[in-house]
Amino acid sequence: MKKRFLCLLFVVCTVISARANSTDSLALTPPMGWNSWNCFSCNINEKQIREIADLMVSTGMKDAGYEYLNIDDCWQVGRDNEGNILVDEKNFPSGIKALADYIHSKGLKFGIYSCAGTLTCAGRPGSRGYQFQDARTYAEWGVDYLKYDWCFDEGQNPQAAYKTMSDALKASGRPIVFSICEWGNSQPWTWAKGIGHLWRTTGDIINAFKGVNYWGGCGVVEIIDKNADLHKYAGPGHWNDPDMLQVGNGVLTMEENRSHFTMWCMLAAPLLAGNDIRKMDKETLGILTNKEVIAVNQDKLGKQGGRYMKVGEHEIWVKQLSNGEAAVCFFNRDEQPWNVETVLQKENLSFADVRFWEKEYKVRDLWKHKDIGSTKDKMQFDIPAHGVVLLKLTPKQ
Ligand code: GLA
Repeated sequence: MKKRFLCLLFVVCTVISARANSTDSLALTPPMGWNSWNCFSCNINEKQIREIADLMVSTGMKDAGYEYLNIDDCWQVGRDNEGNILVDEKNFPSGIKALADYIHSKGLKFGIYSCAGTLTCAGRPGSRGYQFQDARTYAEWGVDYLKYDWCFDEGQNPQAAYKTMSDALKASGRPIVFSICEWGNSQPWTWAKGIGHLWRTTGDIINAFKGVNYWGGCGVVEIIDKNADLHKYAGPGHWNDPDMLQVGNGVLTMEENRSHFTMWCMLAAPLLAGNDIRKMDKETLGILTNKEVIAVNQDKLGKQGGRYMKVGEHEIWVKQLSNGEAAVCFFNRDEQPWNVETVLQKENLSFADVRFWEKEYKVRDLWKHKDIGSTKDKMQFDIPAHGVVLLKLTPKQ
């Protein structure tokens, strides 16, 4: 009898520990959606967020894969006597649950923001000391995604702080994507797999192609450099996050918008649009919804691309794709055009498991939507300043 009981206990313990160790099935490809911070910062309200939800559907963004509609900082104003988080009633008079219901009714998912510190970066109440209570509230509201920031951390250990919120979300009983926003300070790529589904690798992206500002905010190029060697840490369910997109925010040229978007796809980055899509022009929409380019980002193998070559401001990046395919990106960071003449097979290009000299591949230009020959052919590209050429290589049968 005793033996049987011990046997049963062993089986139960094994099942429980396997479940605890197993990663969930959220974010198997990089999350895609929209976030309010880059265009609205603290100025958010329910009317405008509902309009964004409507437009995510009517513009075709949802069809292209943008799934999460995430509000960032400034929806919260205080706590009641029982510690429950209080919503800004002026800007969100119907409450967050009603907003989440509306977003769900459009077939989208809803994301929210909080902070591991006592206050958020905009000085609103953070979740320190209220993690489990807040996670329960989010689950009741129907939250599907939490971005969790690192201001006013008061010397906490980041790994422990993020693990606490991760446990709280798991205990809430609702599947919630957990986005760690600690700006790469403690190299979260070395510890955050299994705690969160994505982690910021850098300070905030600024609205510029190049440059670093006085508080450490980085332009597109600086962020790319900081992510170039992190490819081995990314994979299904655990992504490096180089921050939200600035595509369509009025400062980058269309060439730069295209390069920014392409490189985020090569980096297997979460694609969170950050523009006011109520005022989006056709070119911006065309960039954000290029399905062939998005497919590079969303490839199910989940490999982050890496920099194969850098000569001055000229770079070649390679991303391994499923079914033996690969993406190759020529990235011109220079202020001058770059004229490339190449026979790809002779480039000796190799990255991860891709070796271009071993096979012949068909070549497709993903911005021109055109098949342009094979890796045995001589090709010529005139790449404008700050521009890219993105190719997909498919093995020839
Ligand atoms: C930090 C984050 C940003 C944004 C703001 C909100 O700076 O890194 O992405 O969420 O806080 O206050």
